[in-house]
Amino acid sequence: MYCVRKVTDDVTWVGGCDRRISIFEGVYRLSRGMAYNAYVITDEKTVLVDTVDHAVSEAFLENVEHVLGGRKLDYIIVQHMEPDHSSTLGEVMLRYPEARIVCSKKAAGMIGQFFGRDVTGTALLAEEGTVLDTGRHKLTFVMAPMVHWPEVMVTYDAAEKLLFSADAFGTFGAPDGALFADEVDFFRDYLDRARSYYCNIVGKYGPQVQTLLKKAAGLDIQTICPLHGFVWRKDLGAILEKYLKWSAYEPEDRGVVIAYASVYGGTKNACEVLACRLRELGVRVVMYDVSVTPEETVVAASFRWSHLVFAAPTYNGGVFIRMDETLRDIAAHGLRGRTVAFIENGSWAPTSAKQMREILAPCRDMTFLENTVTVRSRPAEAQREELYALADALKASLEA
Ligand SMILES: Cc1cc2nc3c(=O)[nH]c(=O)nc-3n(C[C@H](O)[C@H](O)[C@H](O)COP(=O)(O)O)c2cc1C
Ligand SMILES: [Fe+2]
Ligand SMILES: [Fe+2]
Repeated sequence: MYCVRKVTDDVTWVGGCDRRISIFEGVYRLSRGMAYNAYVITDEKTVLVDTVDHAVSEAFLENVEHVLGGRKLDYIIVQHMEPDHSSTLGEVMLRYPEARIVCSKKAAGMIGQFFGRDVTGTALLAEEGTVLDTGRHKLTFVMAPMVHWPEVMVTYDAAEKLLFSADAFGTFGAPDGALFADEVDFFRDYLDRARSYYCNIVGKYGPQVQTLLKKAAGLDIQTICPLHGFVWRKDLGAILEKYLKWSAYEPEDRGVVIAYASVYGGTKNACEVLACRLRELGVRVVMYDVSVTPEETVVAASFRWSHLVFAAPTYNGGVFIRMDETLRDIAAHGLRGRTVAFIENGSWAPTSAKQMREILAPCRDMTFLENTVTVRSRPAEAQREELYALADALKASLEA
């Protein structure tokens, strides 16, 4: 049975939700599934805007067929070739062989790579500002290279004041029948997942996102239709504000993330003392044990908060493996502009702080506090003062 929802009179959501998926794209652990959006525009010409992951292909194909209602499909706009969207494109091309592909030149090349089909001679190769006139709708293509693949473009529909935004403004999580963000308490229930989605998938490409946001600022946008999660038709300013912050690597909140690793509990002990002291000083604290917290959670928290403490034992002359991975993930996402402190531990030659700092060295505009605390096995009672001094330094920095 088809399952569609109308965005406007002639724009219809034809996507689907996968609530069985527990790991997205081999890395990101999901607890509440994933939504894959695609849209059909029924105008004088019919247009399919993107396709979906093969996990929801059955529902999607049925939905498209229903919305077309026996009409032929004139155009397939391919905004992004990542297979969470394009894996059903081959099947759609077979079902609707007369439909003309509309995509960037780079995307056309990727269609060849993924499906062995050379569409470069037949596709409408969109460039910045190319307009597709479908009758009432005039669809203008806006290139968005490296948000977060090179072939990405977004599509502005001047008739509806609607932006098809590709992966931008997406979120992890399958909505429970809701299509519009205003049908749920988005900022209470989905913001964490939207932040995690942005930071982990697009976070490295902040400057490119800023370029796209600047272009979007010149358009009258009243509705945003992303490829995951919710359609935005109210309070666009609130989610735009988040995107402006995330893409500029500006923290949303002032407070301290303490991410620690600890094999026998010594490092953890030091972190608990630090956290309690920070709370006594009125500082907000979030703690993670990186042995059980997925890297993507710590990456997202590092984008959210202003101050970060990383604490780990020395491990075979290096940094404890889970912390090593977490820090490399943060560095790979190009985090900038945070204030960072370290706690190291080692029973014979503690060197993990220096090495943790080296892993984060490529991150720009970081401030490293010089109050590194070195624990030798268990924190000695005499080290309470050092931990309190670190708390004071963090508090002073937070207030600066
Ligand atoms: C596999 C392994 C390798 C280690 N390598 C080192 C090392 O190279 N240098 C060192 O000083 N301690 C090393 N240690 C010891 C721990 O760093 C040390 O016991 C530390 O106090 C553990 O802190 P924790 O109580 O927070 O787990 C190693 C421990 C393990 C399990
Ligand atoms: Fe993508
Ligand atoms: Fe995607």
